Amino acid sequence: MKIFIAQPIQPEGVEILKQVAEVKSNPQGRPLTRQEFLTQIRDVDAVVLPWHTDVMDREAIGLASHLKVIGRHGVGYENIDLEAATERGVYVTFTPVHTPTVADTAFVLLMTAARRIAEADRFVKSGKWTVGGEWVAWQHMGLDVHDKTIGIIGCGRIGAGVARRAKGFDMRILYFDEVARPDVEAETGAVRVGLDQLLKESDFVSVNCALNERSRGLMGAKQFAIMKPTAVLVNTARGPIVDQPALVEALKTKRIAAAGLDVFVEEPIPPGDPLLTLDNVVLIPHIGSAALEMRRKMAVTVAEDVARVLTGKKPTYLLNSKVLEVRPLTETK
Ligand code: DGY
Repeated sequence: MKIFIAQPIQPEGVEILKQVAEVKSNPQGRPLTRQEFLTQIRDVDAVVLPWHTDVMDREAIGLASHLKVIGRHGVGYENIDLEAATERGVYVTFTPVHTPTVADTAFVLLMTAARRIAEADRFVKSGKWTVGGEWVAWQHMGLDVHDKTIGIIGCGRIGAGVARRAKGFDMRILYFDEVARPDVEAETGAVRVGLDQLLKESDFVSVNCALNERSRGLMGAKQFAIMKPTAVLVNTARGPIVDQPALVEALKTKRIAAAGLDVFVEEPIPPGDPLLTLDNVVLIPHIGSAALEMRRKMAVTVAEDVARVLTGKKPTYLLNSKVLEVRPLTETK
């Protein structure tokens, strides 16, 4: 049996995969082109997808005639056609273990943007501390976080993690979600509201929903117009949930105060992107789960589940449970 790992994962995961099959890794050391990717997956039993950029659509699933399992190293699965996979009897697993790390990242971005930490860092590293001998705290004045209102868009695992962190900062918590989360409400005091109310009342807005046809472009000019001019937007979910040109305009005109972004409409962010020229936005390169311990945990989680499917056992984190009826598992070890 063969497994293809499309981009590097931590070695602890690779070792687990090697125990059940021959493992081939991306030979290029860079993201593959579509053609290169399709060539690599033709003869494999399993594909591990560390990023959302390698696409397992109906065409790719159809081409990979031996395919039994797709292991998504992450939670966003907009790059996988679940329906096509299920029809073909291909198991799709994911790694929802990284929740706390991504929630930490949302808070890091929130605080960095609010307190203008990245600007202050650039200031000190450029050899400055004072201006004309004067200490210039007034130049670095940010916004308080504690006791403020946070609005969480999408209160799933990560959104709930953000709510827990917000509670620790004595924040008032609002959330907008298609489903109510009485457990999160009981634990954190969060209140479910409509999107407009959330945007109107929040000092911080954290985007934590999945990207789908309902959430694409959810945050546009109309939404920024409702927000407070002192508000900070944080996005650790997916770039296309936010209308990026509208966000640039809102930041440029100070319609909102600042933003912290881990995700973008186009990744890597292109060199001429106007976001790169703005001081009131903190940008990081899609590293929401990039803590060493967590990346190891994700690698082990995806590897264990892929190995389970290949040896006929039910995976722990299965995305398409209907597949169990299409191709029931028969244990081989
Ligand atoms: C996810 O979990 O989807 C992150 O974006 C990492 O791929």
